[in-house]
Amino acid sequence: MFETLKQPAPDKILTLIALLRDDPRPNKVDLGVGVYKDREGRTPIMQSVREAEQVLFAEQTTKTYLGLAGDTTFDTLMTGLVLGDAAPAARVRAIQTPGGSGALRILFDLLHRAKPDATVWVSDPTWPNHVPMIEASGLAHASYPYFDATTGTVRFEAMLAALAQAKPNDVVLLHGCCHNPTGANLTFEQWRAVGRLLLEKNLFPFVDIAYQGFGEGLDADAAGVRLLAALVPAMCVATSCSKNFSVYRDRVGCAILLAPSAAEADLACSQLGSVARANYSMPPDHGAAAVRIILGDPARRAAWTVEVDAIRARMIALREGLAAALRKHTGTERFDFVARHRGMFSRLGLSVEQVHRLRAEHAIYMVEDSRVNVAGLPDDRLDDVAHAIVAVL
Ligand code: LMR
Repeated sequence: MFETLKQPAPDKILTLIALLRDDPRPNKVDLGVGVYKDREGRTPIMQSVREAEQVLFAEQTTKTYLGLAGDTTFDTLMTGLVLGDAAPAARVRAIQTPGGSGALRILFDLLHRAKPDATVWVSDPTWPNHVPMIEASGLAHASYPYFDATTGTVRFEAMLAALAQAKPNDVVLLHGCCHNPTGANLTFEQWRAVGRLLLEKNLFPFVDIAYQGFGEGLDADAAGVRLLAALVPAMCVATSCSKNFSVYRDRVGCAILLAPSAAEADLACSQLGSVARANYSMPPDHGAAAVRIILGDPARRAAWTVEVDAIRARMIALREGLAAALRKHTGTERFDFVARHRGMFSRLGLSVEQVHRLRAEHAIYMVEDSRVNVAGLPDDRLDDVAHAIVAVL
């Protein structure tokens, strides 16, 4: 049976996890997978999550099935966290999913059911798992220019020019904030211009927002997606709690859709449920229940917000520290964009060979495209990391 199979193309990020695990060098630096790390290099359970889990443990009386939409209170709270009051509730539906990836996958499948001829436009570059998921859904894909590696900025005019070529009903995948892998983000004015283009060309926005709170703040990071939600008749949003609640392995996400009318929203949501049923059936409950306990309680929510704010502040400080160290070691402003980028990642603009040398000679791990997870930077060794980067240039 299985002898007919070929090895799948390895996922760059998952490959790196294995390489790092097998590296015995004690001073290794993990700037690979997008997982938050504290000063000690740990990925702790957030205090607000720990407390919510204790409430759950004390209060949960059954583990019977909840249904295809998972915890519907979680769905409502997540919709509020992402969209605020940007769109009328009557036109919005949401279902809980296994992580942000689960949301992406079932929404792509839904779009394939709705418009099998649509092309999904993704940023160049984008998260390496976007394209495999689009392909698995059966949709076509194309890319729009996004990142200028020499300046570390968004190629906005080129992006708009490419999207202007899309055909009506094509899907435009946008990173809601904290662009992965580049760290370069749209300004609010640029979101507005994208929104105008989407309306004018009758394109369908699909926002992937997996790092809300890690860029400028929980509300500021949702400004783009909220702008679109207030403007367009219909859209999809995939959101994740992996990062901002640090519940990576619990697989907590939410698929949100906006439709022109309540009736169409109901129709799309029932199709979304049927996609989920044919795939994994119902989402796991534990992490989403903890998130629901936090978001539904003003005091717990405020305490969680303080934790998210601290994570963001630490990443911004690390960005500034690395940019300063790189300025010192290069004697130039070449890497100043690291301080201006937001979110967990920046793309340094190194060659694959330079990335391999950093790994082999300095035990510094980053994705082959030179994406670094700034949260993995060791606070007390920024100078060493900058020195190593400059040594391979
Ligand atoms: C990342 O980009 O590193 C994360 O989203 C983890 C993953 O699944 O790739």
